[in-house]
Amino acid sequence: MTQRVTRRQFLNYALMGTGSFMVAGITLPMARFAIDPLFAAGADGDFIQTSIRMDEITDEPVKVDFTFEQKDGWYESEVSDFAWVYRDGDNIIAFSPVCKHLGCTVTWGGDTSNPDMFFCPCHNGYYTKDGNNVPGTPPRGPLDQFEVADSDGYLALGALGANKLVG
Ligand code: FES
Repeated sequence: MTQRVTRRQFLNYALMGTGSFMVAGITLPMARFAIDPLFAAGADGDFIQTSIRMDEITDEPVKVDFTFEQKDGWYESEVSDFAWVYRDGDNIIAFSPVCKHLGCTVTWGGDTSNPDMFFCPCHNGYYTKDGNNVPGTPPRGPLDQFEVADSDGYLALGALGANKLVG
């Protein structure tokens, strides 16, 4: 015995199939976009090797450049950045150069009258060598600090977080 599909049933199946296809076409890319950063290379936990040897790092902060692949949704790009790096006894300290006032770039010794401080020229912001913001100047908090690691004798930078030297 054959079962015939009525015109109404056929239209219902066709509309449901087309509707499901359209909903999947919209929601799947959105879901992927939402969770993709969790799986992207360079996410938390990855370290980026720099070109400075661990034994070259002294107690004088120096600018250390690095690049990494950034994946933003479907867009991949190579990003260049840098950190201020110095040695404090057995510890290697690496600070973000981003000012905690309005995000300008901080320099070490950029103000010749305060050569032993980080200086932000945008609004005369100052930080002590441990990254602490100097009270009475515009920055609202200490410089952020990178995780560091030794990668075959070279400095590697990890996640950026709160300054651990000043709590
Ligand atoms: S942005 Fe650095 S002091 Fe304002």
